[in-house]
Amino acid sequence: MGNSSRHDAWQAGESYDLYMGRWSRQIAPLFLDLLGAEKDLDWLDVGCGTGALSQAILDTSKPRRVVGVDPSEGFVAWALEIVTDPRVTFLVGGAEAFPVEADEFDRVVSALVLNFVPDKVKALKEMKRAARPAGRVCFYVWDYPNAGVEFMRAFWSAAVSLDPGASELGKDGRFPFCTPSDLRALVDEAGLVVIRIEAVETPTHFSDFDDYWRPFTLGAGPAPGYCASLSPEKREELRATLQERLPTQDDGSIHLSARAWAVEASVQ
Ligand SMILES: C[S@@+](CC[C@H](N)C(=O)[O-])C[C@H]1O[C@@H](n2cnc3c(N)ncnc32)[C@H](O)[C@@H]1O
Repeated sequence: MGNSSRHDAWQAGESYDLYMGRWSRQIAPLFLDLLGAEKDLDWLDVGCGTGALSQAILDTSKPRRVVGVDPSEGFVAWALEIVTDPRVTFLVGGAEAFPVEADEFDRVVSALVLNFVPDKVKALKEMKRAARPAGRVCFYVWDYPNAGVEFMRAFWSAAVSLDPGASELGKDGRFPFCTPSDLRALVDEAGLVVIRIEAVETPTHFSDFDDYWRPFTLGAGPAPGYCASLSPEKREELRATLQERLPTQDDGSIHLSARAWAVEASVQ
């Protein structure tokens, strides 16, 4: 595991859902709206995590079948527990090689995953392998380079102001390829044909500071993983810094937003 990825804690499904899953469940239907896929298709959800995108496909896209695959046994177990639709299956596997046949799916999709995969071109080629000749490979990643995820940006800039060592984990530098031009280059290199690259944006509203802070203390994902590595005193210092800096409404709520880049590509 690389130094910057040592805090990428992907095991506790329930904790992930409280931290990031709440927003990935909100943005997934917007991504599907953009794709506008027809019904009765076979879908593969790569890096399905706790099943946010799989559930949105089931809810909005009238699929014939959805297969979700993720390397985290904990997430797959949680997805199996909470997504009970008979059309869905969840399997353990990584994006660079997953246990499905070639040409099996009409839509091979992935949500908020590619930045965590060491060999991105290999993962895109594997997604292409799983797609039928007339199929599509579609994915989205947070817009890290332009501070597109404001709640994470606020966390990391407070963390770096207290602990310069955290800068290597701060997302702007860690995932510089999450821009339309670099995403296009990766997709081209994998032999896919870009149909569109568009921004998808969702509000991230927190009812109060505790609603913002608590998920960071639960330990699923890079920022909570970093938070868990701090001593109680350092964690309290970080909490107080954030509370002071975040823009708060009169009723105590915090209104931020999160932007992702969505890519739709054809196989041929
Ligand atoms: C931010 S979560 C996104 C999960 C889910 N797609 C969602 O939208 O909520 C990132 C996911 O990537 C998965 N992941 C990390 N490395 C991976 C890899 N090499 N191949 C596939 N998935 C990976 C993690 O297990 C985690 O479920």
